[in-house]
Amino acid sequence: MPPRIITNAELETMVDTSDEWIVSRTGVHERHVADAMVFTSDLAIEAARNAIENASMSPEDIELIVVATLTADMHTPSVACIVQSALGFSKNTMAFDINAACSGFIYAITIANQFLQNGVYKTALVIGAETMSKVTDWEDRNTCVLFGDGAGAVVLKAAETEDGILLTSAGCDGIAGIKSLTIPGLKVSDEEAKKRENRNLCTIRMDGGEVFKYAVRMMSEQITTIIEKAGLKLEDVKLIIPHQANARILEAIAHRIQVDKSVIFFNVSHSGNTSAASVPLALQAAVQADRIHKDDYIILVGLGGGITWGAVLIKWA
Ligand code: ACO
Repeated sequence: MPPRIITNAELETMVDTSDEWIVSRTGVHERHVADAMVFTSDLAIEAARNAIENASMSPEDIELIVVATLTADMHTPSVACIVQSALGFSKNTMAFDINAACSGFIYAITIANQFLQNGVYKTALVIGAETMSKVTDWEDRNTCVLFGDGAGAVVLKAAETEDGILLTSAGCDGIAGIKSLTIPGLKVSDEEAKKRENRNLCTIRMDGGEVFKYAVRMMSEQITTIIEKAGLKLEDVKLIIPHQANARILEAIAHRIQVDKSVIFFNVSHSGNTSAASVPLALQAAVQADRIHKDDYIILVGLGGGITWGAVLIKWA
């Protein structure tokens, strides 16, 4: 995450809000925000470098780069291409971005996993990276208290073992969800312009209540379905690492699927909602906190704009 921190106290000076409101509704105390000239690719490059180093590999070992983001620096080249050019990857590396909003990292893992399973590639770098601060309307208290910037990455390797990624699942409800979370790009409809009262048109607007209900329902369903498909029980799962949208959503999921809150990893307090970066950032925090050990079953689960959702079941190697 970038070094600059915006605390709730600082937000109190920017919009009509309070630390009490933000903490009680979201669990967020502070979020990290990139400087004006720092972009998603800068964060992605740092995360990629760390992940490759941690895997004791070098960039030329990587055959596929998938970056999940909704805040790419440019329409083209993709963030993945910028990462490829920055770190000395092979020219044969396939590199592309995907956008599934806050479910992006789950979608990216799902895609990369297919390339490894069907034998096309042996190694993949999967990155979730966002600078949500650049699409935030800092005068809109409904959204500016929620989001933050960051990037996280993993290296996936093909292996003939019983552990690693066991199952993935993903879905989308564009019919019901298409208007509940939007950031206009080239097209700004009258309806979207109206929501932004002629301020910066390319900023995020969200029907928070609608997304909240979706997030609880779909992330709970994804968790229980993937466990069932694997022939496991909820008790077998050591840790669930959900998209860090809001602490209340995570508490509601624990209540709905009836697990102790300790099974769900909470990391939102110091990061805010970092969209596609939130799951890999939380995964890294969980590893650092010694919450994941060999042979543990863990679940990554997310929900985001679209509305999109997905889950990944892993037996930690
Ligand atoms: N400070 C003070 N008051 C506020 C603030 C604020 N920052 N923001 C809103 N309010 C006010 C509202 O104006 C409203 O006032 P009113 O009753 O006078 O109209 C009141 O607080 C209640 O607003 P609600 O929207 O009902 O508040 P709620 O309890 O639903 O919390 C929140 C809002 C935190 C956004 C919640 O709905 C939420 O977390 N939604 C899900 C967000 C999410 O999960 N996003 C994930 C996907 S993001 C992605 O894919 C990029």
